[in-house]
This record gives sequence, C-alpha cells and structure tokens, in this order.
Amino acid sequence: MTTPAASASNGPMIEIQRLNKWYGDFHVLRDIDLTVARGERIVICGPSGSGKSTLIRCVNHLEEHQQGEIVVNGIAMTQDVKRIEQIRRHVGMVFQHFNLFPHLSVLENCCLSQVWVQKKPRAEAEATAMEYLERVQIANQAYKYPGQLSGGQQQRVAIARALCMRPDVMLFDEPTSALDPEMIKEVLDVMVELAHEGMTMLCVTHEMGFAKTVADRVIFMDQGQIIEEAPPESFFNNPRSERTQLFLSQILGH
Ligand SMILES: Nc1ncnc2c1ncn2[C@@H]1O[C@H](COP(=O)(O)OP(=O)(O)OP(=O)(O)O)[C@@H](O)[C@H]1O
Ligand SMILES: [Mg+2]
Repeated sequence: MTTPAASASNGPMIEIQRLNKWYGDFHVLRDIDLTVARGERIVICGPSGSGKSTLIRCVNHLEEHQQGEIVVNGIAMTQDVKRIEQIRRHVGMVFQHFNLFPHLSVLENCCLSQVWVQKKPRAEAEATAMEYLERVQIANQAYKYPGQLSGGQQQRVAIARALCMRPDVMLFDEPTSALDPEMIKEVLDVMVELAHEGMTMLCVTHEMGFAKTVADRVIFMDQGQIIEEAPPESFFNNPRSERTQLFLSQILGH
C-alpha cells in the first residue's frame, strides 16, 4: 500500500489512469490518462460540455468516478472519507464564481479551514491569512465582506484562501471567465506569479496568452476525451487533430 509519507516527496503529483465517469447513462469522462509531474503547469481547454470541470473536480473528489485510478501526492483515491480528506489537504481549488462565504469577512474566509480543518490557533491562522492576502495585494480589504469587493478582488481572495492551506497542487476552473475584462489581468498576474514560484497547477481556462506564458502542456478535451496534448508552441502552431484546429480557429479567430 502506498503511504503518503513514503511517496510524498517523489513520484508524480497527480496520476490518473483509465478514468471513466458517468452521469446516469451519460458517459462524461472516457478513458482519461493524465500524469502531472511536480511543479508542472497544465492548461485544459475544450468546448463547453467536454468534461473539463468534471475532470478536475474528480481530482479532489468533488465528483465521484466509477472506473479508473486517481492518485494524488502518492495517496490513492478511494471512497474512504479519511482518504478523501487526506487528499483534499494537498489540493487547493479556485472556482469560476469565487465561492467565498458571503457572511464572512475576507479574513474569516481565509481563516475558516485553517482553524476547523487544520486546527490552527486563531492568531496563527490570521497571520497566515494576512501573509497570503498581502501576496495577492488585497490585505487592505481584509475586514470587508465579499459583496463589497469587485469580482477580480474576490477571485484574488479565493486564491489566497486556497493558498492558506499550503496546498501542493492548485486546481483552477475557469477562474477569469466570470470577470469583466479589466479585472482578468489582475487575477492572471497572481496565477503567473504562482506558476513562477513552482506551484503545480491544473488550470481549465481559455486564456490562451496565459497558456503560452506558463503552461508546460496544453490539453484539449472534447466529448469526455483527451484529444490532444502538447507543449504550447506545438499545440498552437501545429495542432494535429482536426477538432483541435477547429476549436482554436473559433477561439483565436476573433
Ligand atoms: N451533475 C450533473 N449531472 C448530469 N450531467 C452533468 C452534471 N454535471 C455536468 N453534466 C454534464 O456533463 C458534461 C460535462 O460537463 P462539464 O461541466 O464537465 O463540462 P465543461 O467542459 O466544464 O463545460 P463548460 O466549458 O461549459 O464549463 C456536460 O454535458 C454536462 O451537461
Ligand atoms: Mg466547466
């Protein structure tokens, strides 16, 4: 059996093998194989409904899969709640719609899991929260509520909140697609910085500039399958499959 202690410092960060998932009769993920090395940055793109969110949500068991293996930081995913909690401790997630708690201040949002999941003393949790809020340049808003912040500011808080748990890997599900154009850059800047610091990142995004700047690999999904994966340069300049070519012509064509 793989123990977290034995394998945490070597081997891939995420290993997905022959992953299959159904929603009822609908086969949403088909034979997905994906290995993410430590420090690797992967961008996942593809048409709406292709299974991108479902795939990354399987990594921290926000969605349950029916077949195949998922191993995160050496820990094999099972139905066991303790196992799932163990995996989630390594994985930070940022959603399209921020998912901050509206009735809690920015600071409280960042402290909650540290206090309740990690059992940290409040003072220590607040110090960590302030450290990451500084990092995303929003410490001066710590006592505000999410509803008093712009979308870009809320998303930066959501990133800080995830980082407070000191994850080994960060999952991003279209973190900028709900934002007004002028706020996209401030969130992407934080993500680029995180990438340069060596964070392992799995990002669903259609921000192709971001993909070109930081991704080690770009993955194209369609109808529940990985159709193509390549480093950004060959992905954008020489896409092999017709489906990838069509998709790129649609999103880069205007
Ligand atoms: N809870 C659910 N029950 C049934 N079907 C679902 C459920 N969640 C998603 N689906 C279906 O699974 C497919 C994949 O959904 P998913 O959200 O993973 O796609 P996506 O690639 O992230 O799309 P988008 O770009 O629109 O976010 C879609 O056809 C969707 O309708
Ligand atoms: Mg999605």
